[in-house]
Amino acid sequence: MIPRRRFLMGSLASAAFAAPAGFVRGAPVAFSADPFTLGVASGCPRQDRIILWTRLAPQPLDGGGMWDAPVDVEWQVAEDEAFSRIASRGVVRTTAGLAHSVHAEATGLRPDRLYWYRFRAGPALSPVGRTRTAPAESARPFRFAFASCQQYEQGYFAAYRDMAARDLDLVVHLGDYIYEKSWGSHHVRQHGVGIPTTLEEFRNRYALYKSDHDLQAAHAAFPWLSVWDDHEVMDDYANDRSYTVRDPAQFLKIRAAAYQAYYEHMPLPPSARPRGADATIYEHYRFGDMLDVLLLDDRQYRSASACVGSGRPTWVSDCAGRTDETRTMLGEKQEQWLDARLRESRGRWTIVAQQTLMAQDKRDGDDGPHFWMDGWDGYPNARRRLLDSLVAHRRRNPIVIGGDRHAFFAADLKHDLARPDGPTIATEFVGTSISSDGPSESSVRKALAENPHLAYARGDRRGYATVELDARHCTVGFEALDDVKDARSTVRRLTTFVVEDGAPGAKTA
Ligand SMILES: [Fe+2]
Repeated sequence: MIPRRRFLMGSLASAAFAAPAGFVRGAPVAFSADPFTLGVASGCPRQDRIILWTRLAPQPLDGGGMWDAPVDVEWQVAEDEAFSRIASRGVVRTTAGLAHSVHAEATGLRPDRLYWYRFRAGPALSPVGRTRTAPAESARPFRFAFASCQQYEQGYFAAYRDMAARDLDLVVHLGDYIYEKSWGSHHVRQHGVGIPTTLEEFRNRYALYKSDHDLQAAHAAFPWLSVWDDHEVMDDYANDRSYTVRDPAQFLKIRAAAYQAYYEHMPLPPSARPRGADATIYEHYRFGDMLDVLLLDDRQYRSASACVGSGRPTWVSDCAGRTDETRTMLGEKQEQWLDARLRESRGRWTIVAQQTLMAQDKRDGDDGPHFWMDGWDGYPNARRRLLDSLVAHRRRNPIVIGGDRHAFFAADLKHDLARPDGPTIATEFVGTSISSDGPSESSVRKALAENPHLAYARGDRRGYATVELDARHCTVGFEALDDVKDARSTVRRLTTFVVEDGAPGAKTA
């Protein structure tokens, strides 16, 4: 294991690159301070390529502190930490229009290999990141972590420090990477400003979150796959609808700024770059014949919330509109894309990576059943179509992972929700939150009591989940912080589940 400190040590004085590569309109680049304040990251691993990310931001919390002119940033990928065997290199021209962020695609790499990477702008050298390409085969177990929901004020990112020290092939982030608003009590640190609505304000919010060294360490240690949920834009929004900003045209302006800032701060491929308020971030990743990951975007294309009018999609009693067949969670295009990908996936394990709990979480009220309209329960026919796809294409070992709920869940997904004793067709795991406040004890107890397919629920602990896949088992660990308010908190495993090859359903290990 490589000590974390080494990833974080950049140096303005290092002369390890052959020659300075950065220029501003022909003049040498001179920074007022270290421009690599937000660390480095990699993502979207393929067998022969990977995306490398950084952003030049000498004054990260105040717009970045860069000038308007483009700056060339040189990058290197090496087979060794000393950069003596360079495997890939290039130069990216960063611009103010992209907040001087870098999204470099390093190609010509070999499968299932560790690589080290770094950037240089003028005299400034970035910290070193480590990454790993996707395997071509499946000779060894594949390990990844998944995480979500990191409200900065409510706790420290100690979970990421623990994650960074593990031996992982990948991290999957399922949304709420930033929060637009302050909520909850017992804050340990402050946003310091209000709700962002402009591009500059969203950039500053990402910079604040990314200034956290534990988060930087987890980015520098592994490649990530990331999708957004709602708080990257606005609480519980659906497509162009928000209960906070009710004019869709006005809301889409905010969404455009928010998507742009998300792209600028994540190791996403250039294909994910927003065009106005639209950006394609759903994607299919293959990891040898062990694993297919289908990364879904269930925010951007979904139908407006059911049964709540223009109000907040929370726990409300059922209504006829909820079961309208035309309601969609993924949008027609993504739904068709997913069906085609499920048809052609060949991996032993299929991970459907999406934002929230897919299993039904029905709560009985005096006036009949209540549902959380912001989740899949608000889109039951879209969920049924997704499960139909899994069954129709006989996907081997489908595992759904999610976030959003700020609680750990394990569930057996049934094809027919009306028959809770019917066959289980997929297994679901929801990681808790990295730091965001969880649900009340009574809410979690109700969920377990009223939904027999939920095998486990626990809302009082923050953390993340780990997954290890081999030819016979998928082993899921729920990793929990002792105290999210303690920056040095340790992490301990709460419980372990196993899914056996060919036998869907969460079993306690
Ligand atoms: Fe969240």
